Amino acid sequence: MRIEPAPSVRGRFRLPGDKSISHRAALFGALAEGPTRIRNYSSAADCASTLECLRALGVTVDRRGDEVTVDGRGPDSWTRPEGVLDAGNSGTTLRLLAGALAGRPFQTVLTGDESLRRRPVERVAAPLRTMGATALTTDGRPPLTIGGGRLHGVDCELSVASAQVKTAILLAGLQAEGTTTVREPAPSRDHTERMLPVFGVPVERHGLAATVHGGASLRGAEIAVPGDVSSAAFLVVAALVLPDSEIHLEGVLLSPTRTAFADVLQAMGGDVEVRLESTDPEPVGSIVARSSSLHGTTVDPARVAALIDEVPALAVAATFAEGTFTLTGAKELRVKESDRIAAMAEGLGRLGGRVRELPDGLVIEGGSSLRGAPVRSHGDHRIAMALAVAALAAEGPTEIEGAECATVSFPEFYDFLDRGAGRG
Ligand code: S3P
Repeated sequence: MRIEPAPSVRGRFRLPGDKSISHRAALFGALAEGPTRIRNYSSAADCASTLECLRALGVTVDRRGDEVTVDGRGPDSWTRPEGVLDAGNSGTTLRLLAGALAGRPFQTVLTGDESLRRRPVERVAAPLRTMGATALTTDGRPPLTIGGGRLHGVDCELSVASAQVKTAILLAGLQAEGTTTVREPAPSRDHTERMLPVFGVPVERHGLAATVHGGASLRGAEIAVPGDVSSAAFLVVAALVLPDSEIHLEGVLLSPTRTAFADVLQAMGGDVEVRLESTDPEPVGSIVARSSSLHGTTVDPARVAALIDEVPALAVAATFAEGTFTLTGAKELRVKESDRIAAMAEGLGRLGGRVRELPDGLVIEGGSSLRGAPVRSHGDHRIAMALAVAALAAEGPTEIEGAECATVSFPEFYDFLDRGAGRG
């Protein structure tokens, strides 16, 4: 795909539903008794993978555009799938399902595309084994075979902050005997803890610990999914780095476990306004971003879990900022859909940015003017979108190899960019 520079981005946008919340709404609906209606379900290919896997487990799912109805008949109605469950590119689908399936009395093989088959799953397999499930990985990676059965609760301390692992253990815990507690080293996104009560299941929270009691049953719910804040981050950065720009994003998820990127951009001098409009069950509101003169900053490693998916977008902002931007404590980026540290260093480097890789982060010397060049997405949606934003503000056209993988999280992305740039 060829991206031409744009003089500015302007406009008002309503984003498709948040990916993390959509996955959970569909999966919890499938575990619940009674129908679950989901509005503004994510258009992401990843969230379609979740629906396909649920159908393969015998769950009736009806989708009309962004409205999804899941005909929940409780976990006992789930049936052994005929073949392997294919999570596509979606780590969330695979890891969350692993937890839900740990309590089912049949064996399932979970796998995914080439990228997902390179990603670590021992982090979810190991705790599920301690709960009494069989969980066989392929050298720590998918295919992952889950043999469910009688589970017992655990008190589990995670070594990495991961909402996927936390959720998997809590979902297994709901089907276990006794109490299950997950303790995290830093706060990861808390959508599971906020959404389970909407399905009638209490979650006790104390600091960085979340506890559920086994034997609880979920009941169907109505879920309105707020706009995807991770998708918003790309548009926000585009507005900050391009001159004469202003965008308004409405109905966006504003969970503090997801908006740390906005705090970092503000600390860099970015004109980013976050307006909270409602708080229950999730904080939702609007974001307004305008062209800004940015300067570098050092990101507090304690905040990294709350901006992990936004690092590619932040790296673009840093390239256009004066001075040095330093991010550490982000080793997890090496095991996302691609090695995002290496992929961003390569991509921005080819465009003329000065980016140095650290084992667990990036150091970016800003202030260089970028020049369009051939770059690679590495099949990673967030790398493709971040490089597209950089390309808008570069001189001359940029060719992005594999740009279409943006559909994994944000199929409308290039249309939104065109619309914002006044050429859509
Ligand atoms: C997600 C959790 C994060 C995030 C991913 C979505 C979720 O992953 O990077 O895009 O929906 O729970 P980890 O749990 O691996 O940190």
